[in-house]
Amino acid sequence: MIILGIETSCDETGISLVTADKNSLHVLSNVVASSMELHSKTGGIIPEIAAREQIKYILPVLDEALKDAEVSKDKIDAIAVTVGPGLIGSLLVGVETARTLAYVWDKPLIPVNHLFGHIYANFLEEEANYSSSKQSESRSLNGDSSRLRSNNIEFPAIALIVSGGHTDLVFMENENSVKWIAGTRDDAAGEAYDKIGRLLGLSYPAGPLIEQLAKKGTPNDFHFPRPLLHEDTLDFSFSGLKTAVLREVQRHSDKLGASASKISSENPKEHRDFGVANAPQNDELFEDKLIADLARATQDAIIDVLVEKTMRATLTRNAKSVLLCGGVAANQTLRDHFLTACEKYNINFFVPSRRLCTDNGAMIAAAGYFTPERIGWKEITANPELYFD
Ligand code: KG4
Ligand code: ZN
Repeated sequence: MIILGIETSCDETGISLVTADKNSLHVLSNVVASSMELHSKTGGIIPEIAAREQIKYILPVLDEALKDAEVSKDKIDAIAVTVGPGLIGSLLVGVETARTLAYVWDKPLIPVNHLFGHIYANFLEEEANYSSSKQSESRSLNGDSSRLRSNNIEFPAIALIVSGGHTDLVFMENENSVKWIAGTRDDAAGEAYDKIGRLLGLSYPAGPLIEQLAKKGTPNDFHFPRPLLHEDTLDFSFSGLKTAVLREVQRHSDKLGASASKISSENPKEHRDFGVANAPQNDELFEDKLIADLARATQDAIIDVLVEKTMRATLTRNAKSVLLCGGVAANQTLRDHFLTACEKYNINFFVPSRRLCTDNGAMIAAAGYFTPERIGWKEITANPELYFD
């Protein structure tokens, strides 16, 4: 069957066509437009602007996705659309577009939870990219470790969703069963990256910039807390980390002032983009040792906690696979740490290609395939507060 996937929960407008059967989920096209550049100027997402940009992009993105896939509308079996969680204005653009298409084309609708979309991105294959690489080869794949076919995922599995809005651990008894285990008590991991980036003078989204800066930082020049790491809970907490970084930034304000404010997005992103921001082109902006050390210590703390808690969940539940997903999963250092930890315990590790980690329509089509619900155009509604059952 062929599923059209629509994702508009935040600042990305993603539409994709995926062909699905019980052995594979194959991406035929995957077009993403982003309004991230506008938000980088304001240091965060302004919901009204995100929604307005969604309206601007949705039809051109749809046209391009259909054209890229070379699939006519008659061949589409169902339309999957993100109904939540997310920003209401942005969600409505996708939901109303899906509703209209379902009515005009006479297709069933599949309401999809955005968080399930991130998880099922792990089940997607992309053309000529990283199908069925062995784990041992994965390091050489330039960031795209462990692309195995979906039917190679062994269950039970633990999935860690790390995005701008969420940090959740879920247990999957099989490919159709998703049970929430634990989550963040305050900030999400991506939110921590973005908020700490702001303290360091970085533009939004700061995750990719902190990743680049951290490579130049010296380990252990700073040491930040790993909240809840040694407590008997799988929950996460990242707001204390932000406070710890703030304290160091204040302590070094005389040295940081000038350089921190220089590092803003000198590299305006293309509107048509796959959601992973590039590092600024100008290396001079990245020469500040203090910022690099703070970025390194921040990233080390986040990665330690994410890997340790996920492995704890995996081992205590005898899971055979770990599925990493969400925008933060685009982080190569995080991917490498997970691969090392999983190899140590002989656990299978899966992570989508980097462009399938950040928001996109293909992951929504994939989750749609595993969602049993099929509804009519009158029945679909957006639910910004949607979470796990
Ligand atoms: O999943 P996503 O595209 O949107 C949400 O559903 O939230 O995730 C966006 C988040 C942002 O917080 C961004 O800073 C983070 O993912 N992110 C990264 C990287 N690329 C994106 N964080 C760390 N390292 C990266 N390379
Ligand atoms: Zn997301």
